[in-house]
Amino acid sequence: MRTVDLRSDTVTEPTRRMRKSIGEAPVGDDVFGEDPTVRRLERSSSELVEKEAALFVPSGTMGNLISVLCHCQRGEEVILGDQSHIFLNETGGVCALGGVVVHTVPNEQDGTISIPRIEAAIRGSDIHQPLTKLICIENTHNRCSGAPISAAYTAEVCGLAQKRGLAVHLDGARLFNAACALKVDPKELARDVDSLLFCFSKGLAAPVGSVICGNREFIERARKVRKMLGGGMRQCGVIAAAGLVALEEMTTRLEEDHINARRLAEGIDGIPGLHVDTSLVKTNILYADLVADTLSCKELLDVLESSGVRILQTGPARFRMVTHYGIGAEDIDYAVETIRGALK
Ligand SMILES: Cc1ncc(COP(=O)(O)O)c(C=O)c1O
Repeated sequence: MRTVDLRSDTVTEPTRRMRKSIGEAPVGDDVFGEDPTVRRLERSSSELVEKEAALFVPSGTMGNLISVLCHCQRGEEVILGDQSHIFLNETGGVCALGGVVVHTVPNEQDGTISIPRIEAAIRGSDIHQPLTKLICIENTHNRCSGAPISAAYTAEVCGLAQKRGLAVHLDGARLFNAACALKVDPKELARDVDSLLFCFSKGLAAPVGSVICGNREFIERARKVRKMLGGGMRQCGVIAAAGLVALEEMTTRLEEDHINARRLAEGIDGIPGLHVDTSLVKTNILYADLVADTLSCKELLDVLESSGVRILQTGPARFRMVTHYGIGAEDIDYAVETIRGALK
């Protein structure tokens, strides 16, 4: 039976060249700074976004956590979107482990946070209030239909932050999807932020790993915090090798995923019982709402699963579908017909 796993772009398997590179990677003890493959990956990553330095980390979650902990002390505050991954999907780590106060501001449908709203959220000098230190933005924005966030908006946020003495961290787990959709160089999207994260293990098909980029001093502090969190890895050139292949070969094929996401959205648009806003689909993520009362979410998931189509429930009647490496146009057509059949 055909399997079309649309739950996430993290379900990808490493490419043949990744597996070969993993097998052949020169390695050393990275906690001693002696792994040549990790060093190469960190150098390539920082050059790609024109930052001074980079740090290889096991996951996006740990990369975001390390970054927030480097920008904020206990009791200080981060401003972020109420739909952000850091707020909703990282188990409250910045609060639980860093004692950082989370101040959420509503995300707009396009993944941005309105500048006046950010400005209003920044604390003044009132002795009762926590000190605001950081603003986090997300690009592409996972919960906001994978919306790509423009360099102009990023510059606006960073301009405000600079004026108010704050730092900006960019959760760019899918930065290359944003760059592809906006047809800009990733460094444009990273230019004004103080730190950023991007992942090799999302649409780029590497099995593990993310990277944080920033200035040298920030990355040195981040290295120490990574160790504190237990994220210091030893001969991790074996996984960094796949990250290098991801950067060399996988960022240029993302348009295919975006075209497939549109094909999927347009295919399911109009199926009675399902609602999708096709105008929001700009990268590889789309959301659909079940509006039929003839079957439950569980029944829909079960019927699809029995035909090999997997989608992710993200709300009471909401589903996410993500296109990625390994899914072709024929898989999309199969998924559309399976979904249509399930709702008949
Ligand atoms: C926007 C965003 N940030 C961070 C992460 C966390 O990455 P990881 O799953 O590697 O911890 C994800 C994961 O899907 C994500 O979508």
